[in-house]
Amino acid sequence: MKPFMLASISLFIFLFIVISYLLFQANPWPFTLATLFSLFLFLLNFWLVPGGFAWRNYIHYQKHKILLGPFSWPLLGFLPQMGSHAHRKLATLATSLGSTRLMIISLGATRVIISSHPDTAKEILCGTSFANRPVKESAKLLMFERAIGFAPYESYWRNLRRIAANLMFSPRRISSFEGLRQLIADNMIEGVVKEMNEIGFVEVRGILRKGSLSNIMESVFGSTLGLEGEKLGLMVKEGYELIGEFNWSDYFPLRFLDFWGTKRRCHKLAAQVNELVGEIVKERRREGELNMKNDFLSLLLSLAKEDQLTDADMVAVLWEMVFRGTDTVAILLEWIMARMVLHQDVQAKAQKEIDTCVGHNKHVRDSDIQNLPYLQAIVKEVLRLHPPGPLLSWARLTIHDTYVDKCFIPAGTTAMVNMWAITHDSTIWEDPWAFKPERLCDKEEDISIMGSDLRLAPFGSGRRVCPGRVLGLATVHLWLARLLQQFKWLPSKPVDLAECLKLSLEMEKPLACRAFSRYDT
Ligand code: HEM
Repeated sequence: MKPFMLASISLFIFLFIVISYLLFQANPWPFTLATLFSLFLFLLNFWLVPGGFAWRNYIHYQKHKILLGPFSWPLLGFLPQMGSHAHRKLATLATSLGSTRLMIISLGATRVIISSHPDTAKEILCGTSFANRPVKESAKLLMFERAIGFAPYESYWRNLRRIAANLMFSPRRISSFEGLRQLIADNMIEGVVKEMNEIGFVEVRGILRKGSLSNIMESVFGSTLGLEGEKLGLMVKEGYELIGEFNWSDYFPLRFLDFWGTKRRCHKLAAQVNELVGEIVKERRREGELNMKNDFLSLLLSLAKEDQLTDADMVAVLWEMVFRGTDTVAILLEWIMARMVLHQDVQAKAQKEIDTCVGHNKHVRDSDIQNLPYLQAIVKEVLRLHPPGPLLSWARLTIHDTYVDKCFIPAGTTAMVNMWAITHDSTIWEDPWAFKPERLCDKEEDISIMGSDLRLAPFGSGRRVCPGRVLGLATVHLWLARLLQQFKWLPSKPVDLAECLKLSLEMEKPLACRAFSRYDT
């Protein structure tokens, strides 16, 4: 195809120029314009390959199968279409091109493959070829390259994952944080009552974000942070903005430029984080008695000598934990509450389950959750309909040349799994747009969401699967159960399920609802 096209275009240019020259010798303008036009056509041919211009050198490598992708803008590729609904646009495109298994696109000069199918998703997420992540410039400047999420797939990352699995997120550690989760649930319930009394409705986003931030902050640093905690909260907010911002240099070799001052702001924020968290680390080291404390910081400081991290690396790891652990949990819970308000029958059924299993007189505890299958199914169903990372945010990168679905994929290609497309695919899920927790209550076919079943893998899968998923789920289950046990939730204005993809997939308009105590009548 390509040589044929090139030959035709060249012939076309040649004829065009010769004819133009013969016809318009006297006047050079038509000749010049015709030459420029021919050149433009030639360049279009160079850029307009399936998948866009970043694939121009690779599209013809395929021996067995042809890679499918849209023709897109010269140079920019699919960038203009990315944005707050990228997951939906990519899903529609993949279906219309018949390329749900694998689709190629260009984001500027970056080659990207997109899987919207469980089989190819498994190949990408679970093999070793895609074990790196593409690092955005802002993530690099904010030190995330030395933390788990962006560290390259090397011994440093393996060491961090081992520490995370065995110590930070071990089942014992997670259950030791139950007291903290309960305390924060009490504070959230107080917050709900206060907002109802003062303004007559509850904006759950503020309450959930505050609760989620204190929860992760105390798990990471213990309960000693006062003003420092508040400052760190503001830094996390600034960090979300910076990472979410579009940066040309992530897609083109333009690192020497600083569009919109993003680099400058990243440098400033990194210096502030280093100073603040660095000081907290030093202070804790001075205090000693590390084994008396139950938080990530003390744990990292008391590691065996051979596993010890430098102070700079410790700052990066702790900062990432706060960063990662805050918004995902709050965003997921806001979606769940929106669904509870919208589907009163589901809410009532979950409350009945809690009443039967736990009763009115005591709070739900972590150990009760295993006896609340319907509540767990609600969480799963919301993760299916509104996955916080619809494109498994923070993609993967090929370490070496490889094959996916028998197609050749060169080293350095970015891979995204469109989990949103998979969980809304009617060939995989019956009636995929309907909210039906019952579908996930089936004891015969228990669909795991922890990464082994790629039909529903909101925490990713394989070596780089989310290490915080058990902690995240423990928190979401407990807080949801406590909020449903305590209140009946009703809409305050019509619930708007519009989405907005930033770092995570958020509700575009904050949920406002009314909460009435279930016990005081
Ligand atoms: C509802 C809650 C959460 C969701 C939906 C979620 C989702 C994800 C997803 C989709 C990934 C990418 C996985 C992949 O590439 O296969 C990820 C990675 C990660 N998550 Fe989570 N997450 C949640 C909670 C948390 C929490 C509470 C923490 C820590 C406190 C955390 C820390 C991380 C880290 C460090 C990574 C990077 C792992 C690596 O690259 O090795 N997450 N998460």
